[in-house]
Amino acid sequence: MLSHLFSLARPLIHSLDAETAHRLTVTGLAAAPLRRAGADDPVLATQAFGLSFPNPVGLAAGFDKNAEAIDGALALGFGFVEAGGVTPLPQPGNPRPRVFRLAEDEAVINRYGLNSEGMEAVAKRLATRRGRGGLVGVNLGANKDSADRAADYAILARRLAPLADFLTINVSSPNTPGLRDLQAENALDDLVARTLAARDEANAGARLTPILLKIAPDLTLPELDGMVAVARKRGIDGMIVSNTTVARPASLRSAARGETGGLSGKPLFEASTRLLAETFLRVDGQFPLIGVGGIDSAETAFAKIRAGATLLQFYSAMVFKGPGLAGQIKSGLADRTRRAGLTRLTALIGRDAAAIARGEGL
Ligand code: FNR
Repeated sequence: MLSHLFSLARPLIHSLDAETAHRLTVTGLAAAPLRRAGADDPVLATQAFGLSFPNPVGLAAGFDKNAEAIDGALALGFGFVEAGGVTPLPQPGNPRPRVFRLAEDEAVINRYGLNSEGMEAVAKRLATRRGRGGLVGVNLGANKDSADRAADYAILARRLAPLADFLTINVSSPNTPGLRDLQAENALDDLVARTLAARDEANAGARLTPILLKIAPDLTLPELDGMVAVARKRGIDGMIVSNTTVARPASLRSAARGETGGLSGKPLFEASTRLLAETFLRVDGQFPLIGVGGIDSAETAFAKIRAGATLLQFYSAMVFKGPGLAGQIKSGLADRTRRAGLTRLTALIGRDAAAIARGEGL
C-alpha cells in the first residue's frame, strides 16, 4: 500500500528540489494520522545496550533533525529512530542548495552542515512524546562556532540523556570544518570522557543512557584502531558504522557528483560494510554495532548483519524506494533467517566478518 502510493507520488516529489522534498516529507509524516505498525516477527527481536528492539531496522540520523516526526517514522515499521543531529545552540547550517539527489546512482550528497533548531527545541519535543513507546536515540553534534567543541557534547549529553533511549557522539559529519579532527585518538579520548561524565551526572540514580560513537567511512585502519581503543577503554556502549563519505567513487554518473559534501546511498555500501567488518573484528564482542551505509534491500541489510551489525539503519534509500522499504527489509530478513534453519536473526551476526574485511563475501 505504502509502496504503491509512493510510486504514484515519486515523480511529483522528485520534481521538487531535494531539500523542499525532504521538508515536505517530514511535515507530512509529522501530521499523518498514526496507525501503529503491526507486531514484528519474533525472529527479528534483538537486545542491544540493555534495550529490547522489536526489529533491528532503524531510521538513520539526518532525516528527522529536530525530532518532529518520530511517531510517524515509528509507524512506518522502524524498530528505532535516531533523531538529530542536534547542536546545543540553534544554527542555520550552510546556504542552500545543500542537498542533491544523484538519481542515476541512487545516492545523495548533502552539505547541510548540522542545521539545527538547537537542543532546547528538541528536548521539548522529546519530553512531549515521552511515554508513547518506541525507541528513540538522538545524534549529537557541535556548534560550528563553538570555542570548545568537546564541551558541546557534554552539554548535549547533560540535557538530553534523561529524554532519550541512546545518544550518539557524531564526530564524523564531513560538513562542519574540523569536526572530523575530533576522531583523532587523544582528542576523542578527552571528548568521550567528558561526555560520559556529563551523562553519569544527568542520569544520577537512574539507568544510564547508552552512548554510541559514530565514525566516518574514510578512516584508515590505524585511525580505526585508535577509535576502537578509546571506545573500549572508556566503556562506550556501541559504535555506528558509518557516516557519509567524502570519497567520490569513479562509478558515479549523475550530474551532481562534483558537489561538495557527504555521499550516501548505494555507492557507500561496499566501503561502509567493509569498515563495519573491520570494526567488528576489533571490538571482540565488547559492545554491539549499528551498520549503516547503502542499505536498500533485504539483501544489503543481511550483508550488514553478516559483517557484524546487531542493528541497522538507512536513510538515502527512502528517497528512491519510499517509506515501505522498512517493511520489505524486515520480511526479507525474517525469510533469510528461517531459510538458514534458525529461529533468531541474531545468530548470524558477524558470520562473514573476516571474509568481508578481506574484500570477499559481499
Ligand atoms: C545524513 N547523515 C547524518 N549523520 C549524522 O550522524 N548526523 C546528521 O545530522 C546527519 N545528517 C544527514 C543528512 C542527510 C541529508 C543525509 C543523506 C545523511 C548520515 C546518515 O545518518 C547515514 O549515516 C548515511 O546517510 C549513510 O546511510 P544511507 O543514507 O546510505 O542509508
